[in-house]
Amino acid sequence: MSLFTVKPIEQLQQEASGEKGLRRVLTATNLVSLGIGAIIGAGIFVFTGQTAANNAGPAIVISFVISGVSCLFAALCYAEFASMIPIAGSAYTYSYATLGEFFAWIIGWDLILEYLFTAPSVAVGWSGLVVSFLKEFGITLPDSLSRAPLEIDQAHLVTNHFLGMTFTHHPMIANGAVMNLPAVIVIALLSVLLILGIKESATFNNVIVVTKVAVILLCIAFALWYVVTHFATAKANWTPFIPENTGEWGKFGWSGILKGSAVIFFAYIGFDAVSTSAQEARNPQRDLPRGILGSLLICTFIFITFSFLMTGMAKYTTMNNDSPVVNAMLAAGAPTWLRILVEVAAILGLSSVCLVMLMGQPRIFFSMANDGLLPRVFTRTHPKFKTPYVTQALTGVLASIIAGTLPLQLLGELVNIGTLFAFIVVAIAIIVLRSKRPELTRPFRTPWVPVIPILCVIGCAAQMYSLPGDTWIRLVVWFAIGLVIYFTYSRHRSKLNNPGAN
Ligand code: ALA
Repeated sequence: MSLFTVKPIEQLQQEASGEKGLRRVLTATNLVSLGIGAIIGAGIFVFTGQTAANNAGPAIVISFVISGVSCLFAALCYAEFASMIPIAGSAYTYSYATLGEFFAWIIGWDLILEYLFTAPSVAVGWSGLVVSFLKEFGITLPDSLSRAPLEIDQAHLVTNHFLGMTFTHHPMIANGAVMNLPAVIVIALLSVLLILGIKESATFNNVIVVTKVAVILLCIAFALWYVVTHFATAKANWTPFIPENTGEWGKFGWSGILKGSAVIFFAYIGFDAVSTSAQEARNPQRDLPRGILGSLLICTFIFITFSFLMTGMAKYTTMNNDSPVVNAMLAAGAPTWLRILVEVAAILGLSSVCLVMLMGQPRIFFSMANDGLLPRVFTRTHPKFKTPYVTQALTGVLASIIAGTLPLQLLGELVNIGTLFAFIVVAIAIIVLRSKRPELTRPFRTPWVPVIPILCVIGCAAQMYSLPGDTWIRLVVWFAIGLVIYFTYSRHRSKLNNPGAN
């Protein structure tokens, strides 16, 4: 039994062509739209303002550029794999084909972290938006039922030692709240929908995406009008553009910009999810790269423009709240109809991100269980609804617990570190496969290999480095649990390592 047995590409391609049941209906435009649907969410509507207030100030726009560039490098690597191995399973499958079973397990376990925690993060963001939306109509939900019972104590800095290293961090404190009920409810409802098979059809997704993008463009137009007509105020809001560091790493100054890039990296997550719809694409080899790169480029443009204008509309110090975009528009005197429109679009938009992430999780479970690395029951589909109901329900329960109890900042940082790690592995896998199997047909080739993958590794590693020590410890604990499962269970059940055993 080898830890480094690779699954032959030919076998993967055969499995892909043998897959039945999924209809190849998605065009390149659908894929771009799917990507935008998964990308635009809590990142831009919630994290941008909070990160400007806590870390980067108006220089949040530089954070978006840094993070966007490293995502672009990662997207170029994903595009090569997606065109070469167009089957669901994404980075997990790519690693199985290049780095071997052990790394495939690591990355599969890492993707579980990404999807399992992204849905709750977006749900918590959603909850904040809903609570402030209801306030517009005089409905106030009790605080104890609309926030996590645990929160990060920003006022206290604690120093801890772990594995011989020193970490400074802000401790978690109980705040007396019971749970974040709206976040739990949205996850439960979406999970039931997914089990019943009311799948987000391409058309439905297109409608939400068009609404989301149209409303963001409207916000951009309003903000542009504002900064042009009130230039003196906007200039004052942008000054100082890079606020002075407070003495703590990551709190303004250049370290704040870098930390900001690691936090708002969350906004870009989702383009990688395009690669999981490989088996439903009409012409995956040509269109997946278009979907991945197209959606990322459009969103990068939107994020950079929007974050710049937003900090011109309102002072960054006022943005540390649950609905920073709407509050910034309020400060700039936006008409009520526009504010309400933005709130509705954001709430709808975040629901669709949450749905895509909740849908992605069972696919990862499914791919891993199919290879024997997770229990066979994870591949079970409902006889009537034809959905992976066991894993979908499991995902729903776990995600609800996470969403109901943990604060947004902790969730976002954990998702980011996990996803950045996945990007690094994919970039390394590109270099490995180019040298191990140079003869394979690559409909899309990452340019300048190994330069682009190496830059991707450096960019993602720098962002990982900027995340707090506690997040690193949580990542290590997550992987430790994963290793125990691999060595006690998966390794002995792997189909590739134990032919005939299953
Ligand atoms: N990029 C997604 C969001 O911002 C995950 O909600």
